[in-house]
Amino acid sequence: MISARKWTAVFLMLLGAAACSGGGEGKSSASRTITGDVNVYSGRHYDSDIVLFDQFTEETGIRVNLIEAGGDALIERITQEAEASPADIFMTADVGILWRADQRDVFRATDNEAFNQRVPAQYRHPEGKWVGLSKRARIIIYNKEMGLPEGLETYEDLADPAYRGMICVRSSSNIYNQSLLASIIAHDGAEAAERWAEGVVANFARKPQGNDTSQIEAVAAGICRLGIVNSYYTARYKGSKDSKAAAIGEMFELFFPNQNDRGAHVNISGAGVTKHAPNAENAEKLIAFLLRDESQRAFASGNNEYPVVPGIAPEGPIAAYADFKADELPVSALGEHQAEAVGIFDRAGWP
Ligand SMILES: [Fe+2]
Repeated sequence: MISARKWTAVFLMLLGAAACSGGGEGKSSASRTITGDVNVYSGRHYDSDIVLFDQFTEETGIRVNLIEAGGDALIERITQEAEASPADIFMTADVGILWRADQRDVFRATDNEAFNQRVPAQYRHPEGKWVGLSKRARIIIYNKEMGLPEGLETYEDLADPAYRGMICVRSSSNIYNQSLLASIIAHDGAEAAERWAEGVVANFARKPQGNDTSQIEAVAAGICRLGIVNSYYTARYKGSKDSKAAAIGEMFELFFPNQNDRGAHVNISGAGVTKHAPNAENAEKLIAFLLRDESQRAFASGNNEYPVVPGIAPEGPIAAYADFKADELPVSALGEHQAEAVGIFDRAGWP
């Protein structure tokens, strides 16, 4: 059985050759060949995804060709390739990127029974343009020795002057922060969200730098008492077999905010069938395959995320942090407020 592999270089060369020779058969356009494969452009980079693609191939005989790059770069590429694009599926993390893709008309609407039945409406596009495959929460972490500051319960509280000099968080150019702020706009309104961003900026322990793991290490080291990070990053320390990483994991604890009101901000990894997909039927089959119970466990645990299909328990180190109240805001709302969030960050001076 042919296995899925990273075709990043090879596949690109083949595409170039096909374009030059004008090769193609059946219903294909001049620049591509309908192969019966399914071509996935993915902004996720986990070996566990490849294992699942291989299982799909074994079961169906449909080969999965994978191209990995950053989400925005792939959107650009699909847009450039236009009708000649071999992409069948665009897959990425954070609904904010799925939103951007939809704004560029990357997806087609689908009405797939598995998508509709398996994935709660909150985690999929209303017209089936994309569907969630796993969930993650953006949460607060705190230095264990310093403890969770008294009175801190919500994201909103992070703007309170009581927490001056305590917060580490990455740059606002990152989609995770844009989606978090979008949720605050959706719940509290744009005015309050702007005051919030200003308040958090005033409470920075240091200028935003690095990614979420940098914030975790800074909190563990006591550089900041509080951090804002995506849940799965914490498992890279708390669940680590590496003694140095595990020691860092001992130094911080997770706190899920807003448990007494709307719940913690949740985002998704997700995928959609592209507008010009040459193998759309196979693409839907692959996404439906990823929504099965067994696939869900593997897909989510590969990055320490939560399965998106209800009733499937998460595995690994994140399992100890699965029992929390999640915000019920449809994640598509996060995209709707993205541009507004970027403007607020700029005005608030959040680099
Ligand atoms: Fe991430």
